[in-house]
Amino acid sequence: MKRKVILDVDTGSDDACAIMLAELRKEIDLVAVCTVKGNQPLKYTNENTLRIRELLKADFPVYKGCADGFVSYLVKPRLQRAKNVDAYDEQGNKVHIHTKLFDLPKAKRKEEDMPASLFYLDYLKHCKEKVTIVMVGPLTNLAVALLIDPSIVKNIEEIVIMGGAHNITNVSSSAEFNIYDDPEAAQRVLHCGAKITMVPLDATHTAYITKETSKELRKIDTPASRFAADLIDLRILVHDQAQPLEVKGSCALHDPLCIAYLIDPKVLKDVRLCNVEVSLSGFTIGQTIVDNRFYQEDRNVYFAFKGDPKRFAKIFTEAFRS
Ligand code: BDR
Ligand code: CA
Repeated sequence: MKRKVILDVDTGSDDACAIMLAELRKEIDLVAVCTVKGNQPLKYTNENTLRIRELLKADFPVYKGCADGFVSYLVKPRLQRAKNVDAYDEQGNKVHIHTKLFDLPKAKRKEEDMPASLFYLDYLKHCKEKVTIVMVGPLTNLAVALLIDPSIVKNIEEIVIMGGAHNITNVSSSAEFNIYDDPEAAQRVLHCGAKITMVPLDATHTAYITKETSKELRKIDTPASRFAADLIDLRILVHDQAQPLEVKGSCALHDPLCIAYLIDPKVLKDVRLCNVEVSLSGFTIGQTIVDNRFYQEDRNVYFAFKGDPKRFAKIFTEAFRS
């Protein structure tokens, strides 16, 4: 039976790859896609999502979500944010890992009228079958819904989150972007009582993707596979210059790793049930504090410490052959 999935995105180069993987793999029934601000302001992340839907000729509804986080953006000082995150292409042009708007035709079909948090409330209250929620941007949309009605959690099968970090961080010296961007929302979701699997930077950086994958995608030669190949090559260019991984000529393709986990859980390695809390203040704001002690209590999160690059590349590429 297909697994029902709601995907929450801040599209974003790797978010786009997650949407493509979820839509193209037959194991997944993509119920809806919710958008949130994150990699770019909401108007761009939402429009990018609509453009990807049209690229795929897909039919899933898109719900536009929150334009800002719970409190951080308004009142908290932003400490230690990474600055030198740009890179340069062969012509010397500055490139960023997430372009504002994808170079794809402007979307013809719009999002639904209902905002994303209200969609969660309505859908989760009335659905007959439990649903898995995959969140690959800041966790604001679901946190708002849980704030209004925490009982909706009974219809959530599992929440899979791309976010958090143990030994590898990106946006600050202690935090990963999706959690740092709305730490209060993240803390609320981590304690909602649902089964939670976290796919942190430790997993996405070890499940790196190389040029072999973009070459394969170019051979498949569909509009979607060509676009995914371009996104991967852009990410490799930026990673090599601004955030090199263990293997040169590779990139982290964070968000689709969550979808790959739904298809084959073995794509995540060294998964431990731990207590995970989010730091809500000071220099460590947005840090995920992962308790690795033997005698820890209140274990709320399955935290993946590693990923499997070969398995991930195979799952991703095969989706585009279908
Ligand atoms: C996460 O932040 C975003 O830039 C990516 O889309 C991913 O979801 C990685 O820290
Ligand atoms: Ca994202």
